[in-house]
Amino acid sequence: MTRRAVVIGTGHYLPERVVENAEFEDKLDTSDEWIRSRSGIERRHIAADDETTSDMATQAALAALTDAGLEGSDVDAIVLATSTADLTFPSAATMVQAAIGMTKGFAFDVQAVCAGFVYALSNANALIASGQANRVLVIGAETFSRIMDWTDRSTCVLFGDGAGAVLLEAQDQPGTTDDRGILATDLNSDGRYKDLLYVDGGVGTRSTGHLRMQGNQVFRHAVEKLAQTAHTALESAGLGADDVDWIVPHQANIRIIQGTAKKMGLPMEKVVVTVQDHGNTSAASIPLALSVGKKRGQIKEGDLVVTEAIGGGLAWGSVVLRW
Ligand code: ACO
Repeated sequence: MTRRAVVIGTGHYLPERVVENAEFEDKLDTSDEWIRSRSGIERRHIAADDETTSDMATQAALAALTDAGLEGSDVDAIVLATSTADLTFPSAATMVQAAIGMTKGFAFDVQAVCAGFVYALSNANALIASGQANRVLVIGAETFSRIMDWTDRSTCVLFGDGAGAVLLEAQDQPGTTDDRGILATDLNSDGRYKDLLYVDGGVGTRSTGHLRMQGNQVFRHAVEKLAQTAHTALESAGLGADDVDWIVPHQANIRIIQGTAKKMGLPMEKVVVTVQDHGNTSAASIPLALSVGKKRGQIKEGDLVVTEAIGGGLAWGSVVLRW
């Protein structure tokens, strides 16, 4: 038998305020048509002034626990992917731990920008496979609205806020490619590309800073690296593109999503797409899409799912799992 990390619950949270593309037309030299055609984004949710990353993460975590019929006290660990934690420390994960009534186990944040959820899922899988935890909440949550330069039309129209969570549980499976649970992961980073996507603030500058991105350069890396990492993870699972039921990609740009699917030889009918409604929510985008995809009735038990993401670092990776 093989000990696998199986998804037993999903949940998400989106702030109440929805900002349509047209709202930007009054303040910036941009248009709904430009944003829609270049990115596929139509609207995004923006957190209320008093709403933080850990608040949203808590709501998503509670929804995932409800979905699984469990409570905070049933969880051993929280791995929370974010680049916009409420404070420099402690971690947003420990804030969620307290909020969901979990008084044992451990909680920590993972920071790999838009690839954060894939990194968090891979870490949680390792915790389960090694026997260090039996149930792990894996959360992606972001308030990128707080690090936007709202005068920069090339970035501020692209991002949104939100949170998503999955609950993983250790389950013994036969040890074949038909097993439920995480079957393979692939993580990569290359710090030489720091200047393509970064925040110009932090502890070093004593300010929060703003996101800076050379979007067209990131775009160039994205399709190539995403298709490559998905191929690598599928291969190490002993599977191929033909076996895939759903790609659940990082939701940054519909053109990247389409390009990656095409490079993998898969039709868009096999891709969960939420970018039109959420914008780029960085580490939150994949768990949001998993939760929405399940609610829509797209992702069902037994389906082979590939998640892939790229972001600041550059950092990128993928996870192959059977739902
Ligand atoms: N409205 C109107 N015009 C705009 C806007 C806007 N909001 N933003 C930029 N433009 C203009 C530019 O100024 C440029 O004008 P110019 O030709 O006169 O100089 C023109 O549009 C084209 O700009 P490009 O940046 O070349 O446009 P592109 O087609 O590459 O689309 C985009 C831009 C949407 C940012 C795209 O490059 C992209 O999605 N990149 C990848 C983003 C990504 O995946 N990031 C990774 C994850 S994020 C993370 O890790 C935090």
